Amino acid sequence: MIEYKKATLLDIPKMQDLVKPEVDKGIILFRSSDEMATNIRSYILALKNEELKGFGALHFHAPNLAEVRSLVVSKDVRGEGVGSSIVKVLLDEARAFGVKQVFTLTYEKGFFEKLNFKEIPKEELPAHKIWADCIKCKYFPVCEEIALIYYL
Ligand SMILES: CC(C)(COP(=O)(O)OP(=O)(O)OC[C@H]1O[C@@H](n2cnc3c(N)ncnc32)[C@H](O)[C@@H]1OP(=O)(O)O)[C@@H](O)C(=O)NCCC(=O)NCCS
Repeated sequence: MIEYKKATLLDIPKMQDLVKPEVDKGIILFRSSDEMATNIRSYILALKNEELKGFGALHFHAPNLAEVRSLVVSKDVRGEGVGSSIVKVLLDEARAFGVKQVFTLTYEKGFFEKLNFKEIPKEELPAHKIWADCIKCKYFPVCEEIALIYYL
């Protein structure tokens, strides 16, 4: 059985280990331990028998806008609904905080469409997202990521 819970600062090393292959491939942006600590309240973990199997973050950009980011599931449990469950927990959290729209930037368009996210032109995203985050990516500015949005 998978348990979903908020991350603590003590989880950061294991989270970095889990996401490393995706960071190396350029699929997920590298976040330093300090950056993760600053945003630790945004992360939800998926645990199986207390072992970390996935995580994702809900990052607030504006009073009406948040982002699902850094979503990753361990290869040995992919396709079992863990990724969807993490996104659903993050959407519940967004709802509880009063956010109206949640976007994501991803290569996994089909996965997010199954969760009722709709594709939007990347130009509709807030400019500071592009400049603060995308500029750190090794694929910037020729990026194949797709922007999708969910209306709460
Ligand atoms: C994307 C990812 C998080 C999905 O996690 P997961 O736990 O395997 O996903 P789920 O099991 O919840 O999949 C839910 C559904 O989406 C489908 N799905 C998963 N990836 C898909 C894709 N790329 N395209 C279409 N459908 C997809 C699954 O088949 C499943 O369908 P079903 O409900 O009919 O069985 C995982 O593959 C991963 O960690 N990928 C690497 C990192 C990454 O790309 N993260 C997203 C960047 S924000």
